[in-house]
Amino acid sequence: MELAYGGYGHSADYHASAASIFEPKRSLVARTGGRVSGTCAVYSLEMTLPGGPRPVAGLGYVSVAPEHRRRGVMSAMVRRVLHTLHDGGGEPVAALNTTEAGIYGRFGFGLASQAAKVRIHRHARGLRLDGGDRTDRTVRIGEPAEHTAALAAVYAHCVRERPGTLGRNAAWAARAVLDLPDHRGGSGRLLCMVAEQDGEPSGYALYRLTAAWEGAVPRYEVSVRELFARDPGSHTALWHALLDVDLAGSVVADRPVDDPVLALLTDPRSAAPVLRDQLHVRLVDVDRALEQRGYATETDLVLDVTDPLCPWNERRFRLRTGPEGGECRPTTAPADLELGVRELGAVHLGGTSLGQLARAGLVRELRPGAVRAAATAFRHDPAPFCPIVF
Ligand SMILES: CC(C)(COP(=O)(O)OP(=O)(O)OC[C@H]1O[C@@H](n2cnc3c(N)ncnc32)[C@H](O)[C@@H]1OP(=O)(O)O)[C@@H](O)C(=O)NCCC(=O)NCCS
Repeated sequence: MELAYGGYGHSADYHASAASIFEPKRSLVARTGGRVSGTCAVYSLEMTLPGGPRPVAGLGYVSVAPEHRRRGVMSAMVRRVLHTLHDGGGEPVAALNTTEAGIYGRFGFGLASQAAKVRIHRHARGLRLDGGDRTDRTVRIGEPAEHTAALAAVYAHCVRERPGTLGRNAAWAARAVLDLPDHRGGSGRLLCMVAEQDGEPSGYALYRLTAAWEGAVPRYEVSVRELFARDPGSHTALWHALLDVDLAGSVVADRPVDDPVLALLTDPRSAAPVLRDQLHVRLVDVDRALEQRGYATETDLVLDVTDPLCPWNERRFRLRTGPEGGECRPTTAPADLELGVRELGAVHLGGTSLGQLARAGLVRELRPGAVRAAATAFRHDPAPFCPIVF
């Protein structure tokens, strides 16, 4: 893996953290001529989907030794993972973050969530002051390790709201605050702000500072790793505290595309949000996956699905949806929509518009009105976001 990712050596602490979440029984190595030529980790995740937290298989550390590249090793591993999940009745959905966004579409992974990178300038008086009532919120600053219980309590409250977020056991919670000196790249150590109301934690931000000077003027960058708040007042209080950090010139953060902070910007253009892909999602078993999530509206649709890699999905399904969930059964009835499994993966977290995919020619409407009905049913508010890379 180290060779495939550029030959960087990692510290013992890095390996200990990777080992704490590693699941050897589920993960793969590829061998060529008896030697390891590739790796693919598989994680048992609990990911919030529209409808609530559900089991999802996470793929990570996909790597192929440089001398074995472009001979189908990665393809063989991904195929094996998907077929094993299907054969063994494992998680019906797989998800991954990727180093390069163009790799996984060919395996039926669709782009399911995006992050907006924003930069909010401190001296531009960047945020409205009327976002919620923050009069009785206090914000304390410290080390993440001092606030483990507060972070866990706020996270447990917030994790159910937004698709894409992951349930965390102790190992994953420790990874969220992992702060290895050799990964800081010149920045300071990880710090933590905790918002409190009546002595109870109501939000937190994990962040670090990077020193920068414009001539003799300090313009430090405050870089936010994670921010969760239980209510609008705590959310606004945290952002105001971040913008008030001594020496800071601006605050940068990767946020959900519908993050409330974007609505609080006095000058939205100045934050210059930039989108990037985040979670790529694959339906392993279309019927089980579509029954696993909730929907915004009631619909009754016949989907004609193409999926050359997982032929058991290549058929027509009748999907009946409602807020409680879906019922998805094979059918011979005429199709309302024709689409690839990649498009179903893209809309699975509720963030990508099925209407957009249809306008791009990636979903074909065979019954007038079917795209609109499906697009409304599959969408979710709030938009998906995953603050951690796995
Ligand atoms: C990316 C990587 C895993 C690919 O492994 P590989 O065994 O060479 O891949 P395969 O031979 O199975 O390639 C399958 C297809 O993917 C394509 N592909 C491979 N790497 C790609 C990339 N970086 N971007 C776009 N397409 C890529 C191949 O061209 C091939 O296309 P084809 O089916 O049209 O012929 C390997 O190059 C690697 O280890 N890279 C560094 C680590 C990394 O980035 N891993 C991905 C982490 S999510």
